[in-house]
Amino acid sequence: MSQIIVSPSILSADFANLERDIKKVENAGADWLHIDVMDGHFVPNITIGVPVVKSIKQIANIPLDVHLMIETPEKYIEPFAKAGADILTFHYEAAKDNVSGITNLIHSFGIKAGLSIKPKTNTEEIIKYLEELDMILVMTVEPGFGGQAFMPECAEKILQIKKHATDNLIIQVDGGINEHTAKVCTQYGANSLVAGNYIYKSNDIEKAILSLR
Ligand code: DX5
Ligand code: ZN
Repeated sequence: MSQIIVSPSILSADFANLERDIKKVENAGADWLHIDVMDGHFVPNITIGVPVVKSIKQIANIPLDVHLMIETPEKYIEPFAKAGADILTFHYEAAKDNVSGITNLIHSFGIKAGLSIKPKTNTEEIIKYLEELDMILVMTVEPGFGGQAFMPECAEKILQIKKHATDNLIIQVDGGINEHTAKVCTQYGANSLVAGNYIYKSNDIEKAILSLR
């Protein structure tokens, strides 16, 4: 079995104790750190910005997996890349017809580029971009908040993506992931799992991360 990349979402961490909560998941075997950036326009919530990512970079020992849920992502690629993002994922719905341009911009900083689709977006629309990208992020909840219920119909998109993907493409899922929904997604072919509430609300974070693999 190939290795599953587990990326705990710090949206479910205690922001007043962010370093402590980042170390908790690092020490428990997390592969990446998922950072949800929301602008109050693309999604109805506001979370983390560039200065916070920059500070996290100073203390984190694992790659920063930055999920941009923002309008006009092209304006913010450079600041987030310079702040220390290792993987920058933007939304297809926000990129409009500029997916290739934004992907090239991300690559110009020597980091990985990911493209994400919301639950109502059809997979067919993004197939043509797969070769350019390092990662596809399939949202299994409406983006905006942690702790929502997994939408099984979205997970089926993994199968369609897998059909057209090369072996190098990382297929990540985000939203409502726990030990049960993770199994569904990895069976379909996902190899990276984001989990916020499931990991941070658990009494045994190490066990929670292990249960996702
Ligand atoms: C939702 C965010 C997710 C969120 C996941 O818009 O993109 O990363 O933190 O949280 P859980 O795992 O609790 O659904
Ligand atoms: Zn996310």
